[in-house]
Amino acid sequence: AQQKVSSLKPKQISPDLFGIFFEDLSYAADGGLYAELIQNRSFEYSPADNRDWHSLTAWKYQTDGFGYGTISVETTAPVHSNNPHYVVLNVEEEGQKGVGLENSGFDGIPVKAGKGYRFSVFLNVMSANPLPIAVALVDDKGKELGSSTFTATGHGWKKYTEQININFDDDDARLVMLVKSKGKVGIDMVSLFPTETFKHHENGMRADLAQVIADLKPKFMRFPGGCLTHGDGVANIYRWKNTIGPVEQRTDQRNIWNYHQSMGLGFFEYFQFCEDIHAKPVPVLAAGVSCQNSGGTWRIGSTGQKGIPMDEMKAYVQDVLDLIEYANGSVNSTWGSKRAAAGHPAPFNLEYLGIGNEDKITGLFEDRFRMIYDAVHKAHPEIKIIGTVGPSPNGEDFDKGWKLANQLNVGIVDEHYYEKPQWFLKNTARYNNYDRQRSKVYIGEYASWGNKLFNALCEAVYMTNLERNGDVVRMASYAPLIARIGHTSWNPDLIYFNGTRVFPTVNYYVQQQFAANSGSEYLPDVITLKGDQATKDTTVGVSCVRDKATGDIILKIANAGNNAVSGVAQLGKIGAFPGSAMLTTISGDMQAENTANNPDAVLPKSTAISLQKNWSFTVPAYSFSVLRIKVS
Ligand code: AHR
Repeated sequence: AQQKVSSLKPKQISPDLFGIFFEDLSYAADGGLYAELIQNRSFEYSPADNRDWHSLTAWKYQTDGFGYGTISVETTAPVHSNNPHYVVLNVEEEGQKGVGLENSGFDGIPVKAGKGYRFSVFLNVMSANPLPIAVALVDDKGKELGSSTFTATGHGWKKYTEQININFDDDDARLVMLVKSKGKVGIDMVSLFPTETFKHHENGMRADLAQVIADLKPKFMRFPGGCLTHGDGVANIYRWKNTIGPVEQRTDQRNIWNYHQSMGLGFFEYFQFCEDIHAKPVPVLAAGVSCQNSGGTWRIGSTGQKGIPMDEMKAYVQDVLDLIEYANGSVNSTWGSKRAAAGHPAPFNLEYLGIGNEDKITGLFEDRFRMIYDAVHKAHPEIKIIGTVGPSPNGEDFDKGWKLANQLNVGIVDEHYYEKPQWFLKNTARYNNYDRQRSKVYIGEYASWGNKLFNALCEAVYMTNLERNGDVVRMASYAPLIARIGHTSWNPDLIYFNGTRVFPTVNYYVQQQFAANSGSEYLPDVITLKGDQATKDTTVGVSCVRDKATGDIILKIANAGNNAVSGVAQLGKIGAFPGSAMLTTISGDMQAENTANNPDAVLPKSTAISLQKNWSFTVPAYSFSVLRIKVS
């Protein structure tokens, strides 16, 4: 018999609670999610990126020993002024195989037998004769894995594209491009993509890594940083306009995390990726100041300026407004037409915009933040602005940031914390007493220090409390998201990867359970724990939500303690007798960790169960259980 009356008083919670934060650090973009396999494709690396880097980093001159010639890096007549460096190769004697360049990719180029790769290059033939060119992927002994040939002709820069089909697997291949006759040629934008990118976009994302991110089912994605957004010094502020349009016309930039941003993964690709994974885009722009109001004076090329000069702020504010037009404007608008030209006439439905990241709340910041905030608020009251309250809840910037947010009535503020796992257990009540009339909260970055099961469970306990406070905590994203093994600038991360494999952490599986099983209503008092754990023991967190879209009820029980926990869920209170239910559990040794050598140490396990009207449960020590109930 169906009981259709609910005795619960549901609380409306944010439908966007659990999302992701993508920052280009630890090779997250170039050498990571961005599927480009050639490192330093446009010869723009420099010592400003990294002391030991230069235009020919990752490149080698190639000859069979019989051929010879010269290579030089030049800037006089580039493909585009935003992309000034290119190589000039002058082949004086071609030998038997030709003379040219070899690229070693990011820790080698991984290729798979039976797969195709799209090679492209910009060439400017400077000598009179057409130039036959051979391009191949080779192993470390020079054995050819796949190749193609073409002829470059005519003065002026032209793009050539070739398909290379691969016959042998190799994780550590090289790309070799050889000119097979005497002559002189300019070379730039040497590129190689797998033909199978995520959702088959030409300038696309690495399919396996993108899929693991998509599988998180995030409600939103914040990008492109973090510290990367505001940079260290005004010259290093991330300028979104430099990252759109044809890739050869984008402006590369030093990455604050000591490497290089090709900007191949730019704002168009970020928006498109958000759409592909059904996540709302949450771009963050600098508030007109650089990291912690630093001038980055120790950096090559730094001007020492901490904030954009006031007489340049009007233009900067316009850049911010233009981003909204780029995302949402009609195809007839100036910036909407650029989105359409990139292949996306429909708007990207931008709803949230972050301004600032962990900034020092000084007068320098406040003046600039106010200018941006007022202009966006006035021109686009529909956009939900996310302000910033410094790097940690313990510093003075936190209080100053909140004070400013209250004065300006900023819709949402961005809190960050990286803490010991125990902190998350001790602070489960953090948002209970937040004033519901003030700004709402986006926890833009948080993580406990570690990737062990215990860390993930402490985060899970905390997240059940975020759900309970989902009326004031509107959004939350673990940070950082992805990191390339061997190039990590920050640990821990949610997902590790190398050139060929992706390793989700236990923390990942916890995040996935929350995002995939989020709700739009919080249902209090469904779960009662036995004993005094409910009131005293914050090693346990429980929540019950309803997803209005599907009608499903989701129970979560996180136990970061060393005892099993029992309780009862009064499902009768839900208002309809449950049909089928799926129980997913993550559990194991508290020290267990998913690593490259043992990637599956802790995985979620799902099983269908049948339910009574009251569900009595006992969950093991160190476990996280999610019960998703289809209500019939
Ligand atoms: O997530 C790594 C860094 O931590 C972010 O760039 C910054 O915002 C924070 O300090």
